[in-house]
Amino acid sequence: AGKSYEYIKVSTPRTGVGLIEIHRPKALNALFTPLILELNEAFKAFDKDHSIGAMVLTGSHKAFAAGADIKEMSTKDFADAYGNDFIESWSELPNTVKKPVISAVNGHALGGGCELAMMCDIMYVSEKANLGQPEIKLGIIPGAGGSQRLTRAIGKSKAMELILTGKNFSGRNAYDWGLAAQIFETPEQCVDAALETAETIASYSRIAVKACKEVVNKSQDLGVREGVEYERRVFHGLFGSEDQKIGMTAFAEKKKAQWKHR
Ligand code: HXC
Repeated sequence: AGKSYEYIKVSTPRTGVGLIEIHRPKALNALFTPLILELNEAFKAFDKDHSIGAMVLTGSHKAFAAGADIKEMSTKDFADAYGNDFIESWSELPNTVKKPVISAVNGHALGGGCELAMMCDIMYVSEKANLGQPEIKLGIIPGAGGSQRLTRAIGKSKAMELILTGKNFSGRNAYDWGLAAQIFETPEQCVDAALETAETIASYSRIAVKACKEVVNKSQDLGVREGVEYERRVFHGLFGSEDQKIGMTAFAEKKKAQWKHR
């Protein structure tokens, strides 16, 4: 925190909460390499910062992000895309940091913008959100996980229809289909609620919070049986943390837990 970037704004508006705002207004927050590198840096910095327990990622009221930068992509050929691992740097984004990230989605979240929102651990939307995977209209397909994450979240038939037609969907749809956890009337309410939830998460043991994120995400990759076994290993491990003793002692003594995050 404290560092200034060109295409994003970072701040710590509430206790334990890191806020990252995508800020490239001239291009509706289209995601290009310099912006992605800044995002990676900011996520990693908050992930390392012991005073931070959770993060919120948002854009402007007009656009969360209108997609990958079409002008940057338009001249790429196969050798360039494959040879230089186009999109590889995106894999360091919210899904690989250990602390939870909440996306607060207002305005356009299209293509890579929708994918970025879906990489986050929790999605909040407002009635003003406009989401979609319009890549088919450009002669390509989703490239940052859209075909996988959207399908898991809303089911195959609906995801297939959206990705094959390139039709946008509303914040209300995202909420009704279970892609978003909550919907709000205005962008302000959406961001505020995301910060509030992040503050709640940040008030808990960082160790337990990271473990929660890890095991819930495992459910996306493992079968139920292996997933439950994985959960149990991590669960057992938490009895080795000081925070487990602190949390349970505080309950017995009817006090508020003073976490050591150890
Ligand atoms: C580059 C973009 C952009 C994008 C908007 N802009 N989206 N530039 N890449 N994805 C720029 C416009 O060129 C324009 O710049 C300025 O932002 C304002 O946009 P307008 O189109 O004038 O605004 P509006 O009429 O309000 O329309 C908004 C819009 C439209 C519906 C969101 O901009 C649009 O359809 N954008 C493209 C959406 C899209 O296809 N996204 C998916 C990209 S593919 P100028 O200089 O003219 O003012 C993708 C692949 C991901 O994301 C693969 C893995 C990462």
